[in-house]
Amino acid sequence: MSNKDLFQHKSKNWDMNSKRVKNANAIASNIIKKVKLNNNMRVMDLGAGTGLLSYFIAPYISEIVAVDNSESMLEVFKIKCDEFDCKTQVIQKDISVETIDEKFDGVISSMTIHHIENQKELFFKLFNMLNDGGFLALADLDIEDGSFHSDNNGVFHFGFDREELRNIALEVGFKDIEFSTVSTINKPHCDFDIFLIIAYK
Ligand SMILES: C[S@@+](CC[C@H](N)C(=O)[O-])C[C@H]1O[C@@H](n2cnc3c(N)ncnc32)[C@H](O)[C@@H]1O
Repeated sequence: MSNKDLFQHKSKNWDMNSKRVKNANAIASNIIKKVKLNNNMRVMDLGAGTGLLSYFIAPYISEIVAVDNSESMLEVFKIKCDEFDCKTQVIQKDISVETIDEKFDGVISSMTIHHIENQKELFFKLFNMLNDGGFLALADLDIEDGSFHSDNNGVFHFGFDREELRNIALEVGFKDIEFSTVSTINKPHCDFDIFLIIAYK
């Protein structure tokens, strides 16, 4: 991925789209229901963007670490994060080329991994950033026909095959892997299902 901020033109109005807020809320509700969160946990939000998912998870943990390569999305995150019900930290990094030399109790993510080309490398990196027993909770699109985004610049995957992701997660060492459908995004031409994968180190 280049250093260009692909979300610059979207960041200011990102949160004004009620479908995005509803989707993030549905993902968060499922994470809260399925993962035993607690107020000592330090959790990374991968591709946190403006913090839609972080906001809903914040009351259940100690600290959110927002990781994103988009300066403009993180600017919006920083303006909002005083309202979050936990501590926050922001790290601007491209996770596809860099690593973070820290450990987390969990990694959450919403609608980000389709922007990352090499899933095996990503899952391996995330595995190594987790404490023993730490959790992964990633939500993204099921396989789609390429029509979800109006512009596919920076989109490496038209959704995911759940079994392929399960195999990658198993190969890098994750266990207790579980998939569920947590949301459907309705667009005028098509409905798009969103899955959540939960797995543990
Ligand atoms: C579709 S947005 C989702 C934002 C937020 N999670 C949400 O649900 O509203 C994808 C986010 O992932 C970030 N992103 C894409 N590729 C990334 C990478 N390689 N490293 C870090 N962040 C990345 C983008 O900058 C963007 O903020």
